[in-house]
Amino acid sequence: MAAEFDVEATLAKIPLPDKIKLLSGVGWWNTHAVPAAGLQSLRMSDGPNGVRGSQFFNGVPSSCFPSSTGLGSSFDVDLALRVGEALGVESHAKGCHVLLAPTVNTQRSPLGGRSFESFAEDPHLNGTIAAAYINGLQSKGVAATIKHFVANDQEFQRYRVSLLLVCVRGSTEGRVGEVSERALREIYLKPFQIAIKNSNPWALMTAYNRVNGLHVSENPRLLVDILRGEWGYQGTIISDWIGVYSTAESIKAGLDIEMPGPTVMRGKAVERLMIAEKLFTSDIDERVRKILVLYKHALDSGVPFDAPEGSIDTPELRQLLRTAAADATVLLKNDKQILPLKTGIKKIAVIGPNAKRAMTSGGGSAQLRSTYAVTPFEGITAAANEIGAEVTYHIGTPSHNTLPLLDGSIRQGNGEPGAYMQFWNESPSEDFLSTSPHLHAKISEHVWDVPTHSTNCFLADGVDDTKVNEVCYIRYTTKFTPDETGSWELGLSVAGAGNLFVDSKLLIDLSTDPEQGESFFGLGTIEKREVIDLEAGKTYDFEIRISNASFVSRGSPFSCRGGIRLGGCRKSGGARDIEEASKLAAESDVAILVIGLNHDWESEGFDRQNIDLPRLTNNLVAAVLKANPNTVIVNQTGAPVAMPWADSASTILQAFYGGNELGNGLADVLFGKVNPSGKLSLTFPKRLEDSPSFPSYGDRGQELGKILYNEGIFVGYRGFEIRKLEPLFAFGHGLSYTTFEYSGLQTSAIPAGNDPKFAVTFTIKNTGSVSGREVAQVYIADPQSSLPRPLKELKGFNKVALEAGESKVVSVELDREALSFYDDRRAAWVAEAGKFDVFVGASSTDIKLTGEVELEKSFTWKGL
Ligand code: BGC
Repeated sequence: MAAEFDVEATLAKIPLPDKIKLLSGVGWWNTHAVPAAGLQSLRMSDGPNGVRGSQFFNGVPSSCFPSSTGLGSSFDVDLALRVGEALGVESHAKGCHVLLAPTVNTQRSPLGGRSFESFAEDPHLNGTIAAAYINGLQSKGVAATIKHFVANDQEFQRYRVSLLLVCVRGSTEGRVGEVSERALREIYLKPFQIAIKNSNPWALMTAYNRVNGLHVSENPRLLVDILRGEWGYQGTIISDWIGVYSTAESIKAGLDIEMPGPTVMRGKAVERLMIAEKLFTSDIDERVRKILVLYKHALDSGVPFDAPEGSIDTPELRQLLRTAAADATVLLKNDKQILPLKTGIKKIAVIGPNAKRAMTSGGGSAQLRSTYAVTPFEGITAAANEIGAEVTYHIGTPSHNTLPLLDGSIRQGNGEPGAYMQFWNESPSEDFLSTSPHLHAKISEHVWDVPTHSTNCFLADGVDDTKVNEVCYIRYTTKFTPDETGSWELGLSVAGAGNLFVDSKLLIDLSTDPEQGESFFGLGTIEKREVIDLEAGKTYDFEIRISNASFVSRGSPFSCRGGIRLGGCRKSGGARDIEEASKLAAESDVAILVIGLNHDWESEGFDRQNIDLPRLTNNLVAAVLKANPNTVIVNQTGAPVAMPWADSASTILQAFYGGNELGNGLADVLFGKVNPSGKLSLTFPKRLEDSPSFPSYGDRGQELGKILYNEGIFVGYRGFEIRKLEPLFAFGHGLSYTTFEYSGLQTSAIPAGNDPKFAVTFTIKNTGSVSGREVAQVYIADPQSSLPRPLKELKGFNKVALEAGESKVVSVELDREALSFYDDRRAAWVAEAGKFDVFVGASSTDIKLTGEVELEKSFTWKGL
């Protein structure tokens, strides 16, 4: 059938009203079907670390892979390809034709709420890993949607982002006030350019923000001139969700599909503009042609249409998830060779807030319901058993921002796990939302009901909208059995207004004009907390009643039946807990401290305020290090945090959010089943102030509605190097349990012409006693450039596996990308004749070999 699909012939069969329909989505995840032309609706799903399926609420479980900063830190293109393939297979199981991934926005600041979603601060690494991921995914017939094009580097003012102007100017030319394209080209567009060149993603998602004054979704300079024109991009362009702010402008700029549905900017608005001849059938046809190519790919893929969603769980997939989790781990320090943990260790204390909770992913649209998850505690315990060591545990101190969900400890009235939800279109009783309703009074018959597994329900999808109106009333009931006796803190946030009752008594009141916060992508309230004494093993009735009427009447940016998030945990014992944890550490041979952030600190929807570890974490680390110097610190975050204790710790690992198998992957590295080979894809600063964008990031950078990218091209390690600032851990840094020796650097001559290919060759030897893998990094510098350039830039890398004692000759292929900078005076890439420095390093600061290569004749180029 797919082979017969002819775009022009199909276009000719589609009546104009259906063509207009195709320009926007249906609901959150679908495109329109056009029976007249035999087209069925396509299904989309988020990305990037899994395939969530077509429901935020009550979704079908999926595999969660390590977050992108972890995958980027593997520097492993083969692994990224295999992850892409696995996501393709999962997409088939979810009936998903278009995966909304990968994300390749450059991490301008560690504070970015979505920093964890992109692979690297360096455009070469970011684009190269993205290309492998896309090639893997699309080899299974599933369209990748590279996102968010471009400069969606912060969450600040996300829903008011129409006010936000991302203004990119080079700081180096000394022409202050003039907007330069150089940073846009070299830093922010570059990962897209590299990935498009090397993998041709079939779809692309525009960013919410403006670039230099104009929203990307209607920006002809970016979409028509650069993307479609210079780069010749042929794929389908999809808006971010509610990210279209014009009708004719976005259509003329080439934005093919407005998402989600129902349409706000197209549909009838398009019909009106056609009457006025502000839009013509030819404009519509141009967009529909691109959309039809996506339908063609979907037909080719064999992914079923309107299919029930399923999960996959095979031993091979588990192994890949485990390998990915291990390879996404970076060994930052191992001064005393405590790692790998060996036979002979008798007692291990596992301490910390991230040990017994599986922090599989960052928050927001990347988050999903995992098929299963292995916590660090479980992974470490299993590995410790194998060497006959005993494991003890203490939380030490909590790290949550919003209180942890109660999933797993809740049951419905019928004894099944989870909770039960009922929906009404009218208030079911007069006092339904009052703070003292008659809870057991007879109320009217509900129109729909559903069980759920979670205390987090974002009802933007997954509700039967043929039965439940846009404005509705919801009752959520469950029975909670605490596992510890004492004072518990419970917290509720809602999208709408409502209350929590415990054993029929009002505990949390969010019914009257509740304070708005950041929950539910900015639609919800703050988390309101109360403390209550609970007894372990006793069962408590929880009832939450809400209505979404209040935010619908305020004007919600998208359709949503409301939201409920209930969290809770025993109130922390503060210093006493830290003392107990330290005592445990002191009594053990080794302490493993698993600390970090989680999806409620690092999430889509908001940026972090600082790079500090939460609450009392630093006190806990200091106390445990004092109690037992044989402490291994595992930091689990998606982006850098400050580690004020780093000098006094001998052993530090960076674990990122590791997906389903995070605990086993981590244990494999700790106990030496896997020799670590990851290298940081982000610079870890000593303090936030050192990060190059510090003075002009987020609200700090706001100036008359503009965010000024004052650091220009000096982002990430480029900024640290030019300012001679020593980072805490440098870009590209990562240790192994073996040692490597580099020698024999040679560079091939650069041939003439404006598309030269050349190679850097050298030898690496494994000089240690165990096999291992080394990421050799090739940096290029252009000291004679006519414009200031970074002191060096990553232009190639190779991950090499070596047995103990083995040597290999490694060749890294380079091309014009390695030589060029963007010159906006000439509106072209320029490679200037002269000598270039070649650095081969084990990190950006650990340069092992230095050489030179000469370009005889300058040249310019455009295009991909
Ligand atoms: C995010 C996108 C995501 C979309 C659908 C938006 O809020 O920015 O990355 O794909 O929602 O969930």
